[in-house]
Amino acid sequence: MEKTIVSSVNNGFNPVFVLFFFCLCSLSSAAILDDPMECSRGERLAITLAKDSINRNSNRSTTGKLEVDIFELLRDSEYEMGETMCQIMSKGVVAVLGPSASPASNSIISNICGEKEVPYVKVAPEDILKVQFPRFTTLDLRPTNTDISLAVAGLLTFFNGTTACLICAQADCEYSLLNLEQLLRQFLISKETLSVRMLDDSQDPTPLLKEIRDDKTATIIVDANATMSHIILERASELGMLSVYYTYIFTSLEFSLLRLDDVADQRVNIVGFSVFNKTHPFFQDFVLSLNRSWQENCDHAPFAGTPLSSALLFDAVYAVVAAVQELNRSQNVGATQLSCKSSKIWEHGTSLMNYLRMVELEGLTGHIEFNSKGQRSNYALRIMQNSKDGLRQIGLWHSEDGLSMEKKLPSINVTDTLFNTTLTITTILENPYVMLRQNHQELEGNDRYEGFCVDMLKELADILKFKYRIRLVADGLYGVPGANGTWTGMVGELISRKADLAVAGLTITAEREKVIDFSKPFMTLGISIMYRVHLGRRPGYFSFLDPFSPGVWLFMLLAYLAVSCVLFLVARLTPYEWYNPHPCLKGRCNLLINQYSLGNSFWFPVGGFMQQGSTIAPRALSTRCVSGVWWAFTLIIISSYTANLAAFLTVQRMEVPIESVDDLADQTAIEYGTMHGGSTMTFFQNSRYQTYQRMWNFMHSKQPSVFVKSTEEGIARVLNSNYAYLLESTMNEYYRQRNCNLTQIGGLLDTKGYGIGMPLGEWRMTDGRPGK
Ligand SMILES: *[C@@H]1O[C@H](CO)[C@@H](O)[C@H](O)[C@H]1NC(C)=O
Ligand SMILES: *[C@@H]1O[C@H](CO)[C@@H](O)[C@H](O)[C@H]1NC(C)=O
Ligand SMILES: *[C@@H]1O[C@H](CO)[C@@H](O)[C@H](O)[C@H]1NC(C)=O
Ligand SMILES: *[C@@H]1O[C@H](CO)[C@@H](O)[C@H](O)[C@H]1NC(C)=O
Ligand SMILES: *[C@@H]1O[C@H](CO)[C@@H](O)[C@H](O)[C@H]1NC(C)=O
Ligand SMILES: *[C@@H]1O[C@H](CO)[C@@H](O)[C@H](O)[C@H]1NC(C)=O
Ligand SMILES: *[C@@H]1O[C@H](CO)[C@@H](O)[C@H](O)[C@H]1NC(C)=O
Ligand SMILES: *[C@@H]1O[C@H](CO)[C@@H](O)[C@H](O)[C@H]1NC(C)=O
Ligand SMILES: *[C@@H]1O[C@H](CO)[C@@H](O)[C@H](O)[C@H]1NC(C)=O
Ligand SMILES: *[C@@H]1O[C@H](CO)[C@@H](O)[C@H](O)[C@H]1NC(C)=O
Repeated sequence: MEKTIVSSVNNGFNPVFVLFFFCLCSLSSAAILDDPMECSRGERLAITLAKDSINRNSNRSTTGKLEVDIFELLRDSEYEMGETMCQIMSKGVVAVLGPSASPASNSIISNICGEKEVPYVKVAPEDILKVQFPRFTTLDLRPTNTDISLAVAGLLTFFNGTTACLICAQADCEYSLLNLEQLLRQFLISKETLSVRMLDDSQDPTPLLKEIRDDKTATIIVDANATMSHIILERASELGMLSVYYTYIFTSLEFSLLRLDDVADQRVNIVGFSVFNKTHPFFQDFVLSLNRSWQENCDHAPFAGTPLSSALLFDAVYAVVAAVQELNRSQNVGATQLSCKSSKIWEHGTSLMNYLRMVELEGLTGHIEFNSKGQRSNYALRIMQNSKDGLRQIGLWHSEDGLSMEKKLPSINVTDTLFNTTLTITTILENPYVMLRQNHQELEGNDRYEGFCVDMLKELADILKFKYRIRLVADGLYGVPGANGTWTGMVGELISRKADLAVAGLTITAEREKVIDFSKPFMTLGISIMYRVHLGRRPGYFSFLDPFSPGVWLFMLLAYLAVSCVLFLVARLTPYEWYNPHPCLKGRCNLLINQYSLGNSFWFPVGGFMQQGSTIAPRALSTRCVSGVWWAFTLIIISSYTANLAAFLTVQRMEVPIESVDDLADQTAIEYGTMHGGSTMTFFQNSRYQTYQRMWNFMHSKQPSVFVKSTEEGIARVLNSNYAYLLESTMNEYYRQRNCNLTQIGGLLDTKGYGIGMPLGEWRMTDGRPGK
C-alpha cells in the first residue's frame, strides 16, 4: 500500500540510489553524487544532512568519521545491480541503504547482503512477491502494508461505513491485494461490503469513479501513489463526487504531498496518514534545505511537502550509526572488503544486525524500533483530515494500541460549507408550488418562477446563505423507478447528482427514501378525489313538484277523488246530514237539505288539504270520521312536502353520483385516473388494499389511458368529461378555490408529507459528518 514512490521498471528517469556507508578510520570512500535529476526527492540531501550532523556531534574517541558513498542507479535491472553490489562489497561497508523504489534491484540487494551478512536497511515498499524467508539482514523502515490495512480498517469502522470501495492503482494492485486480508477480514466479520476496483492500463479513473457513484458507495479507499491519488481526486471533482457525502481514505503515506487545495474544499471528508514528526529538531532544517535546494534547481517545487523516502533515508543513517556505536562498545567494528567471488562473509554482520534490531530512537518519521522480523514497531500513524486551514490531525493509529480518534471531531458547520456555493435545484412546474410568472419571458434565471416552493427556497437560502439556480426537471416527471432499476424525474436527477436539491411538491415515500434523502415534511396531505360538481337541472316552472315523484302526486289525486266521492256518498246516506235550514218557516217544515252536494264534496277536501278549512262543517259522525282521516293524511303529506322542498332546493347543487372512493371503485361509468409517473400512481400500483388494487387494475388497463401528463390536463378532463381525478389534497384544495365547478369527494385515502429531496447521505448531518 505504501508503494508510493515505486518507479516502474521502465521508468528510467526516476533517480534511484544505492547508498552505503563506511564507518572508517583509514578508508576514505568516494561518494558519487551526480544527480541527473535536478528536482530530486531530496534523498541525497537527506543523507548529507544526516552525515554532517553526525560527524559534527559524534564523539571522536568512540566513532570514526562517517562516510557515505552514493551510487546511482539508472535502471532497475537485476543484472546491473548485481555488478554494482560486487563493487560495493569490494569496498567494504557496514550497511547498505536501499533504493526507495526499484523492486528488482531491491531483491538483488537483499539477496547479496544476506549472502555476505551485511545489514541492509530498506526504505522501499514491501516486495511485490513476498519473500518467503525474509533475509535476516534486511530491516524495513517503512510501515508495513499490514499495519496500514489495520489502520484503514479501524478508520472504516470509526466512520460507520457499511459499504466501501477500494480503488487500486494498477502497479500496486496484485501486491496490495495480498494485504487486503486484514481489511476483508474486518468487513466479513461486520457483514459490510467492500468492493475492489482496479485501475486499468489506460490509467483513467473516470469510468471507475462513475461506477462507484452509481453504486452509491460513500467511502472510497484510494490505494495509489501521491500522483495518482491527485488525479483521482481531480476526476472525482469533475464528476461532482467531492461533496459531504463522500469520505476518501488515502493509504499513501505521502498524504501531505497531495495538493488538496487545488481540488477539494473542506466540505469533503478526506483522510490520510502521516508518519512525520514535525517537532523533531531536524525537521525544520530538513524542510528548509529541501526548499532551498528546490528553489535553486527547479522552476517550482516538485513536491508540496516532504517526500517520505528522503526522511526515511535520513532516519536510516541515524539508525545504522546508533547500532554501530553500540556495537563498537564491545568489539572494534571494522568494515571488511568482500569479494563476490569468495564465500567470505562479514564477521560483524550478525552482531550489527542484532544491535540494529535493538535500536530505539526518535526519527523524522516518528519513533524507530524494530520487531524480530525487522519491521517497524511501536510507532504511530497520524490520521490527518483536510480542513479549512490545511491538514489537521484527527487521530492516531498506534501499532500496539490501535486507533484512537479525537473525542470531539470538529463538526462541519453547514452554514460555512454552504456559504458562497451555488446549488442546482431541480423542480417541476406545478401550481401552486412552482409557477411561471406572467411576464416570465422578460425575466431571467430564478426570477421567472414564483410559488410556494420558490418562496420557501428563498427563505432557506437566506438562512443558510447559499445561492441557487432553479432548473426544471428534464423529463418533467417526479420520479418512479423504471423496469431496469433507474429512476426517472427529479429523483433520478438527485441520484445521478445532476441536482443538489429537489424543491417541489415531492412526496415522501418509503420507496424514494431508499434512494434519496428527504427533509422533514413541510406540508402534510393525502390523496383525494376531485370531481366536477354535479350539474343539476335549473329550477323550472314546475320545480315545486320535485319533492314528490309523479306517482305520489297521482295517488294523491286519486286519494282526493276517492275521499270526495266517499264523503258525498256517506253524507247522502247518513240522516244526520239532512236538516232543515229554516225550521220556523211555515210550510217548509219538511224541507231538508244536505250541504254535501257534489260540488261541496269536492271542495271540502281541498280546503282541508290546503290547511285552510271551509265553511262546510261535517255534522254526522261518519262524515267527521272521513274528514278526520283526510286531514290526518294531509297533515303528513304537507309536512313531508315542506321538508322535502327545503332539502331539495339546498342539496340540489351538491348532489353527486359518487360519495366515496368505494363508490368510485364499484362503478365503471365514471373514469378515474392519476398523474402519470407521480407518487399517486405509485401509491395505487403498490397498494395491497383490495379496493385500491381494483382501482389500479382499472386504471392500468383502461384504454385510452386515464393517466394525465399534468394536473392541468387532469382538471380539464374532470371539467369536460365524466372523469374523476385522483390527486393530492393540497392541490385539490387549490384548484377547488379557483373553480367552484370542482369538488372533492370523500376523505383522504392516505396521509403523507412533502419534503425537500436530497441526494442520499449528502446533507444528513449527525455530528457534522454524513451519517448512515
Ligand atoms: C504513480 O503510479 C502510477 C500508476 O500506478 C505510475 O504511472 C506513476 O509513475 C507513479 N508515480 C510515481 C511518482 O511513482
Ligand atoms: C566521548 O567519549 C568519552 C569516553 O566514552 C567520554 O568520556 C566523553 O564524555 C564523550 N564526549 C562526548 C562529547 O560525548
Ligand atoms: C570504534 O571505537 C574505536 C575507539 O574505541 C574507534 O577508534 C573506532 O573508529 C570505532 N569504530 C567505529 C566503526 O566506530
Ligand atoms: C458511528 O456510530 C456510533 C454508534 O452508532 C456513533 O457513536 C459514532 O458517533 C458514529 N461515528 C461517526 C463518525 O458517525
Ligand atoms: C517528535 O520528536 C521529539 C524530539 O525527538 C520527541 O520528543 C517527540 O516525542 C516526538 N513526537 C512524536 C509524536 O513522536
Ligand atoms: C519555500 O520557501 C519559499 C520562500 O522562502 C516559501 O515561500 C515557500 O512557502 C517555501 N515552501 C515550502 C514548501 O516550505
Ligand atoms: C456556523 O457559522 C456561522 C457563520 O459562519 C455562525 O453564525 C454559526 O453560529 C455557526 N454554527 C455553528 C453550529 O457553529
Ligand atoms: C464567492 O464566490 C465568487 C466566485 O466563486 C468569488 O468571486 C467571491 O469572492 C466569493 N465571495 C466570498 C465572500 O467568498
Ligand atoms: C433504463 O430505462 C430507461 C427508460 O425506461 C432508459 O432511458 C435508460 O437508459 C435505461 N437504463 C439502463 C442502464 O438500461
Ligand atoms: C362552471 O360551470 C358552468 C356551467 O357549465 C359554467 O357556466 C361556468 O363558467 C363554470 N365556472 C367556471 C369557474 O368554470
